[in-house]
Amino acid sequence: MRSDLPEWRRLEAHARDFQNTKIKDLFNNDPVRFDHFTAACGPILIDFSKQLMNETTRDNLLKLAEACDLENWRERMFTGDAINVTEERAVLHTALRTKNKTPVLVDDKDIIPSIKAAQEKMETFCRDFDKSDRFNHVVNIGIGGSDLGANVVCEALTPYINRKKTYHFVSNIDATDLMEALRDVDPEKTLFIITSKTFTTQETLTNACTARDWLREKLGRNDVSEHFIAATQNVEKAVDFGISEENIFPIWDWVGGRYSLWSAVGISIALAIGYDNYTALLDGAYTMDKHFREAPLAENLPVILGLIGVWNRNFLHYDALSIVPYNQYMTFLPFYMQQLDMESNGKSVDRQGRRVNYNTGPIILGDVGTNAQHAYFQLLHQGTSPMPCDIIMCAKSHNDIGDHHVKLLANALAQTKAMMEGQDHEDPNKVFDGNRPTNTLVLDELTPHTLGMLLSLYEHKIFVQGVIWNINSFDQCGVELGKVLAKDIIRDLGLDDMQTDSSTKGLLKHIKSVNTNI
Ligand code: F6P
Repeated sequence: MRSDLPEWRRLEAHARDFQNTKIKDLFNNDPVRFDHFTAACGPILIDFSKQLMNETTRDNLLKLAEACDLENWRERMFTGDAINVTEERAVLHTALRTKNKTPVLVDDKDIIPSIKAAQEKMETFCRDFDKSDRFNHVVNIGIGGSDLGANVVCEALTPYINRKKTYHFVSNIDATDLMEALRDVDPEKTLFIITSKTFTTQETLTNACTARDWLREKLGRNDVSEHFIAATQNVEKAVDFGISEENIFPIWDWVGGRYSLWSAVGISIALAIGYDNYTALLDGAYTMDKHFREAPLAENLPVILGLIGVWNRNFLHYDALSIVPYNQYMTFLPFYMQQLDMESNGKSVDRQGRRVNYNTGPIILGDVGTNAQHAYFQLLHQGTSPMPCDIIMCAKSHNDIGDHHVKLLANALAQTKAMMEGQDHEDPNKVFDGNRPTNTLVLDELTPHTLGMLLSLYEHKIFVQGVIWNINSFDQCGVELGKVLAKDIIRDLGLDDMQTDSSTKGLLKHIKSVNTNI
């Protein structure tokens, strides 16, 4: 077990030394703390000086990373080793954004040519789409990794979007999601993208079928295949659905759902922001990949963020991490991060199948700043379950009007200061304990390139933590049980029965029946 490593035990002992330490005192004792506890990669800088840690902590964490063979695991990921052991797959989303000409092998086959071919097909489609006004509305139907990544990027890159067309994301099986998206679109000019790696996901297929019925009814014809394209690994099922093979964009089993926005799953992004901007997004991710692969561990942003997270989770015993972008365009980032982190590292069993005796992935929650301040920050400042925060800021704003941006940044800085310093007061209601750790991430500006870097940074951070915890960050067995039970319930209760009685009483009858049918 990782917790048996001498490096782990050393960190446990070291954490006890911090019981009475205040972060602000670390600053008082070290005038160059800020310089020693910041790291940068091009347009992204991380200030981690407001963590409850010192140089010895950093050294001890780096030794833990070495003891866990981090560099070797990193290389195994980049070179296509089947490190997703439960699914017996390589983990190669990084190959989708590589500029490296050297072959990347899966089962002894170089996958770079197939990536290039798929990207060329996507590029042709996107450039044609741009030039023509055959379709003016795009509706992406997908869920989880087939929705969140593309959705967060399209929202974040709104300033780059072709506004002559509209873009919608439908994920929920609640028909409201689809119906609201279709409310204002012109059926004749609507293109649906069915995005599903497996093409078996209940929510996506239900929405896809309803969209197809809606279109048939609106257009008064049965053949609506021209309006559908797909991003999937399951070509056969997509063809069965009625999508012509030339409109199917391939993905591969070595791209995990939550890591798939870099594949054809990102076609909705490329349609919205144009193929050149999409390429810049991939290039940004590649820049961070290269940094992660080559920079010394002590200067390596994903390694630093990952190890700080381990320190807070396992040695200072925080349960959660709040991610707060101070940028309205990044409103969806916390949702995306929830899946990325919690589906990857929400595990209790290590790679050897043993139940771990230490904590793994934290609870992720977040909201955009400043809104978060007026919602859940009360608990962060004065609650009994405080949590560290990643505060993300952009130096430049896309909407630099009046003093808005300065006030936005001042608020972000104020929060990190309040969390660190706290406040003494004779009135106990006004006491802030402070000593809450924060990271401050600074981007020059929110562009396709910096966004690509940021997302790749968090992907690799999560990978680093998975290595330290000795868990497989690339499967998601925990989401399967509910899917099976939902199908069982429909089978047992009968779809027709459930549909005919839509009263509260009827629903209570179903709840009771499910509860007692154990
Ligand atoms: O239920 C979780 C999950 O398997 C995710 O990992 C995945 O991103 C999502 O469902 C959607 O899966 P698919 O792309 O196969 O529809």
